[in-house]
Amino acid sequence: MAIGTSCAIGQNSKQTSKSPIAGSSLYQSRDGLLELDLEASSGAVDLGGQQAYLLSYNGQIPAPRLEAKPGDTVRIHFTNNLSQPTNLHYHGLHIPVTGNADNVFLNIEPGERFDYEFTIPQDHPAGTFWYHPHRHGLVAEQLFGGLAGLFIVRGELDDIPEIKAAQEEFLVLQDFALDENGRMLPSNHTSAMTGREGQLITINGQLNPTLSLPANGLLRWRILNASPSRFYRLSLENHPFYLIATEGGSLAEPVEMSELLLTPGQRAEVLVRGDRNSGQYSLQNLPYNRGGMGMMGGRGMMGGRGMMGGRGMMGGRGMMGREDNAPTVLATLNYENAVEPVSLPTKLVSIPTLPEPQQVRRFQLNHGMEPGMGMVFLINGQPYKSDRIDTQVQLNTVEDWEIVNTGMMDHPFHIHTNPFQVISRNGKSEPYPAWTDTVLVARGETVRIRIPFRDFAGKTVYHCHILDHEDLGMMGNLEIRA
Ligand code: C2O
Ligand code: CU
Ligand code: CU
Repeated sequence: MAIGTSCAIGQNSKQTSKSPIAGSSLYQSRDGLLELDLEASSGAVDLGGQQAYLLSYNGQIPAPRLEAKPGDTVRIHFTNNLSQPTNLHYHGLHIPVTGNADNVFLNIEPGERFDYEFTIPQDHPAGTFWYHPHRHGLVAEQLFGGLAGLFIVRGELDDIPEIKAAQEEFLVLQDFALDENGRMLPSNHTSAMTGREGQLITINGQLNPTLSLPANGLLRWRILNASPSRFYRLSLENHPFYLIATEGGSLAEPVEMSELLLTPGQRAEVLVRGDRNSGQYSLQNLPYNRGGMGMMGGRGMMGGRGMMGGRGMMGGRGMMGREDNAPTVLATLNYENAVEPVSLPTKLVSIPTLPEPQQVRRFQLNHGMEPGMGMVFLINGQPYKSDRIDTQVQLNTVEDWEIVNTGMMDHPFHIHTNPFQVISRNGKSEPYPAWTDTVLVARGETVRIRIPFRDFAGKTVYHCHILDHEDLGMMGNLEIRA
């Protein structure tokens, strides 16, 4: 059952932790205000019971979980104690893109402090959002160091009785590439091109944690892929689970699934239900091929098998960005007691049908060679330039964007601030309506999305959420004009 177990640090395979697993601290808003100090620094942290030298917020992997409600004010007193510039991005939140809100053009130098402040709109959906650095050129490196945390907005979905009754768990997926002393292995341009991956896969900073089904037999998992490049194709050994929310919040009704693909940046909320069988299921990461650079030649990025080869997770490479060919166990779910299956909600939160677009645009994703830079990643033939506006849209309009991937690798396409719906994939409509902020555009695919631009004018970005691709040029500036 447990195949290709994912551990090499200590005796983690035996480690059990009572739900809820792991301990990042929690900051919740009170009387309409969420206020905290947040410090980015590098140094020793606990990872799976061992010391690792990583980048962290407040010394925690994953970073503290923040929770607020629509209408709340958020005030984050941020200090950069890294040795390089950074900033904060609030991925998925629908908040202003300017000033001291979700402004990814800020540059906070080492030793500097910055006070972020914004208000979550009264009509903001409930959902699983997150925060991470967004200093262009350093994003992949800083994420891979561990800088990521959840930002939860509570609301309508949380008040549905069946969902309220479920035991809630937060699962933050992060991978790391460490040597035997727990120090980060250096990346290079080659691994960056495919997108860096580490062989040490953690959930809430733990290796193969044990989760248990609560007495009432219903779990709600809120899962974040906080890895810079790794895709997770999750399965509970084919035991069904029920998707209730995606990046942009609630679905209209639960959708039964037996596996779930999460690209970097994506989130999902699922219900896991006990039944008359007791026992154990592994939460597995199934193999997934997200493409590679065929022309690399030599040892080649296309190769990549055998990286697991007996060497253990802390060993050598593992940054080549290729998927392993055996399922990896990420966590173990104990069904201690057989229970009568509880009933699931039939209706969640309705999803509006968007009006026809006033404008249709096309974006082509590809890669190419740039003199002096080597391989770069391109949108419409151009690598990112900070002082160029690539796309201008009008506030209070709806647009369709057709994203065409003509390259050799899959690209998860992400737009800041403005959630959208996927209209079609290669001309076929999606199986169920959903709000998202990050959509997979696999190689060869054309994905059409519909985006209402509302509330916030200003400049922000869209990009591939394989963050090495973003750092290597696959990003554009978006100006929303009032
Ligand atoms: Cu999580 Cu600009 O991204
Ligand atoms: Cu984002
Ligand atoms: Cu990409």
